[in-house]
Amino acid sequence: MIRLKGLTRRYGALAAVDSVDLEIPPNEVFGIIGKSGAGKSTLVRLISLLERPDSGEVWYADRRVDDLSPSELVAERRRVGMIFQSFNLFGSRTAGGNVAYPLEIAGVRRREARARVDELLELVGLSGRGDSPISALSGGQKQRIAIARALAVEPSILFCDEATSALDPQTTRSILDLLRRLQRGMGLTVVMITHQMEVVRDACDRVAVLDEGRVVETGPVADVFSRPKTAVTREFLSHLNPMERDRTLTAGSAEPEASGLVRWSHEGGAYTLRFRGSLTGEPVLSRLAREYGVDVNIRAGGVQTVGDLPVGTLVADITGEAGEVRRALESLRSAGVIVEENEA
Ligand SMILES: Nc1ncnc2c1ncn2[C@@H]1O[C@H](COP(=O)(O)OP(=O)(O)O)[C@@H](O)[C@H]1O
Ligand SMILES: [Mg+2]
Repeated sequence: MIRLKGLTRRYGALAAVDSVDLEIPPNEVFGIIGKSGAGKSTLVRLISLLERPDSGEVWYADRRVDDLSPSELVAERRRVGMIFQSFNLFGSRTAGGNVAYPLEIAGVRRREARARVDELLELVGLSGRGDSPISALSGGQKQRIAIARALAVEPSILFCDEATSALDPQTTRSILDLLRRLQRGMGLTVVMITHQMEVVRDACDRVAVLDEGRVVETGPVADVFSRPKTAVTREFLSHLNPMERDRTLTAGSAEPEASGLVRWSHEGGAYTLRFRGSLTGEPVLSRLAREYGVDVNIRAGGVQTVGDLPVGTLVADITGEAGEVRRALESLRSAGVIVEENEA
């Protein structure tokens, strides 16, 4: 468990990280999402002990680690691996030479190091590529080498700062799959810093939303995504929201959108209804029509997997006598459906 208490880091008058309290459980992928400038990289430098906070505390399990002496800090930092958007590999070394670097620093003997490098290359799917110059590798392969290097000294925490932001969607998926597999296989705690909602959806168990240096909400991904509490989170989620996407699709086209939603009408769609887990739309809506005498006209719909939970989304108009519509919406909400009013 990593615990942050009242963590603050100022640059001049700006609080880049502002009184952050956060608990990051072990053996999970924990996402920290925020817009550019939200303070993500600063926060990760504080948690990974690269930088000291102006105030507040960082705890690894029951050890306070933000105020260590330089020698204690070196030991504690061994427990931490990092990868970055820009890979930060040594161009003058081969792929294998990059992976070997932390082992050399740690004084591991040559032969032992060589065996460990082979093991690590295999772990990241690059067996036999140890002699490749860095310049001969694709972006995805470079990130795999960076992951192998970060894991060389067997850290218990891996920080990924925008690790997939420079990669195309397909490579992003393969790197996220690799990170998930490593996290599960090695019992790692992975802290994933990102501005991409897809990364949180596809790879994270839990998420914290950072805005202007503050954590504005946090929880299991499925909860935060299906019940966003803040405007910032809703904005990130608008990528999943059919109302903000693909307005160019012609009416009547039943092509699935990137969000996994099929839209068959571009007209209307006053409400977005989200059904979580076993709650499905059909009986709920037919009961609604029967009990309140309202008309439900579905404009778009689909199912997405958020975390490990299926979330059904319908975009619909609900029309009828105003009081009945209001009561119908209330009954949806009390049945556990998440109802959002869309902007006209
Ligand atoms: N070393 C620094 N000196 C001055 N300002 C900084 C420094 N690092 C970050 N900042 C400022 O702190 C804020 C947060 O930056 P950063 O943590 O890099 O955000 P993010 O990673 O979310 O894009 C930004 O306004 C940035 O300009
Ligand atoms: Mg950053």
